[in-house]
Amino acid sequence: MKFFLDSANLEELKKAAEWGIIDGVTTNPSLIAKEGVPMEEQIRKICDIFDGDISAEVVSDTAEEMVEEGRRLASIHSNVVVKVPLVQEGIKAVSRLSKEGIRTNVTLCFSAAQALLAAKAGAYIVSPFIGRVDDLGWPGMDLIRDIVTIYKNYGFQTQVLSASVRGALHVVEAAKAGAHITTLPYKVIEQLFHHPLTEKGLEQFLADYRKAFDLIPA
Ligand code: G3P
Repeated sequence: MKFFLDSANLEELKKAAEWGIIDGVTTNPSLIAKEGVPMEEQIRKICDIFDGDISAEVVSDTAEEMVEEGRRLASIHSNVVVKVPLVQEGIKAVSRLSKEGIRTNVTLCFSAAQALLAAKAGAYIVSPFIGRVDDLGWPGMDLIRDIVTIYKNYGFQTQVLSASVRGALHVVEAAKAGAHITTLPYKVIEQLFHHPLTEKGLEQFLADYRKAFDLIPA
């Protein structure tokens, strides 16, 4: 399962990259807006410090404009994946961009029916937002399971990226459901490391060893 960092913050990206377990980056217009730097400039900065798929989202309204903007974003770096919203104009744009060999991440997916449209349009990635489905009281993980099943049934190559992730359980459940990728806020990645028994066990190991050989704790 690939882990992507869901952030446009350069400091978070630098810290996360040190773990050696991050395979890519996803951004969206809200995450870019938080950094206060225009899209193409911030994506260029991310490409300069990280080597892996980097999703950059179009902010145009029509298919024509999305295609033009997608071409510009893709020209920033070969690692850029053009993020397009799962709306009619977006699917039109994805169909055209995929034929031009430009990789797309179709985002704001909330149903298996929508995910079928993304795959048929030639999307490289589809991003079902499981957290926002959960927020409404529906089982967001069912969405991942349904999409993975449907894509397997027809041999679609589109990768399922579990997005809008709220915690470690979402990561585990998405992995069990067969999602290809999960994109994680920095704080969720940090959560994955922690277990009280690990911390307690290490503390005891070190205390026993240091006591046995009269070593001063670090
Ligand atoms: O990649 C999509 C993600 O950033 C949305 O997350 O928490 O706003 O639903 P959230």
